[in-house]
Amino acid sequence: MNRSGRRKVTVVGAGFVGSTAAQRIIEKGLADVVMVDIAEGIPQGKALDMMESAPVEGFDMAIVGSNSYEATADSDVVVVTAGLPRKPGMSRDDLLKTNAGIVGGVCEQIAKYSPNAILIIVSNPLDAMCHVALKATGFPSNRVIGMAGVLDSARMRHFIADAAKVSVKNVHAFVLGGHGDTMVPLMRYATISGIPVDRFLDKATIDAIADRTRNGGIEIVNYLKTGSAYYAPSSSAVEMVDAILNDRKELLPCAVFLNGEYGVKDLYIGVLAKLGKDGVEKVIELELLPEEQANLDISIAAVKELVTKL
Ligand code: NAI
Ligand code: 2OP
Repeated sequence: MNRSGRRKVTVVGAGFVGSTAAQRIIEKGLADVVMVDIAEGIPQGKALDMMESAPVEGFDMAIVGSNSYEATADSDVVVVTAGLPRKPGMSRDDLLKTNAGIVGGVCEQIAKYSPNAILIIVSNPLDAMCHVALKATGFPSNRVIGMAGVLDSARMRHFIADAAKVSVKNVHAFVLGGHGDTMVPLMRYATISGIPVDRFLDKATIDAIADRTRNGGIEIVNYLKTGSAYYAPSSSAVEMVDAILNDRKELLPCAVFLNGEYGVKDLYIGVLAKLGKDGVEKVIELELLPEEQANLDISIAAVKELVTKL
């Protein structure tokens, strides 16, 4: 919290995802923001540019940019987006070693200056970076959470709304598993205003949506060519910030350190979790059909393999 008593969020990485997340946080009036990056001048310049938009946009929150961590002290929530993004031909896993070094170093600084913060990790490969952050901070696992499921689910909800020609507000759906090609879009639980989605769409369309969801990240990379998605990723991270700061008890798919749920122990996997002021307050364990469980097991094995490489 700030000395002024306002809530404080640090965003590490002033690149595409970080700066867009920072902009959304101040424009929504969620908290004051400190944006940190190693690139000299970039966080300062972007923060000043955003502050100069305040008179037009009409927000009262403040944002400052920095290349060091002193200004981040006593943040309530920290969003970690530092690291390299994907280029065409690269998998998220190709980023493993470089981003592990970056995320580890960042998280040590965060733990030093904001020992009570809740961390939202965004850097890829997401599930593995959550392990790096947990180790580097020594925080309890309820305070180190990965953002991927909200994004993957948002993509799936958009595709469903688009195919069924209904408002996206009516669509609820979520994805479980790791943030990679093996993620598990749970179509059986997808609904339009509480009605199962298979009442609106045929099987071929539903299967195509599941497939497009699994490849949602690379679809954007192939368009952009020089980087990866950032509008939906920043929205997704900010939804988690909002749930925590406002103690919403919101059920969101997030990467959570499991302790026996779904038969998994000591591993970050995307599951439905209740987010509130304490971070992850509960894991919602669903009954899965054998085929769904088998797909989740494949995803768990893929994450385990990646974490072992760390
Ligand atoms: P970007 O390249 O635009 O920004 C990354 C920023 O990190 C750069 O400004 C860079 O200077 C900074 N940085 C590098 N090392 C740093 C350090 N040690 N300390 C502080 N800052 C440092 O990349 P973008 O598009 O913002 O993506 C960021 C990360 O988020 C990537 O790893 C990307 O793959 C990941 N991502 C994850 C998603 C998810 O669903 N979990 C979705 C979208 C992106
Ligand atoms: C995405 O899914 C690259 O992980 C990033 O867009």
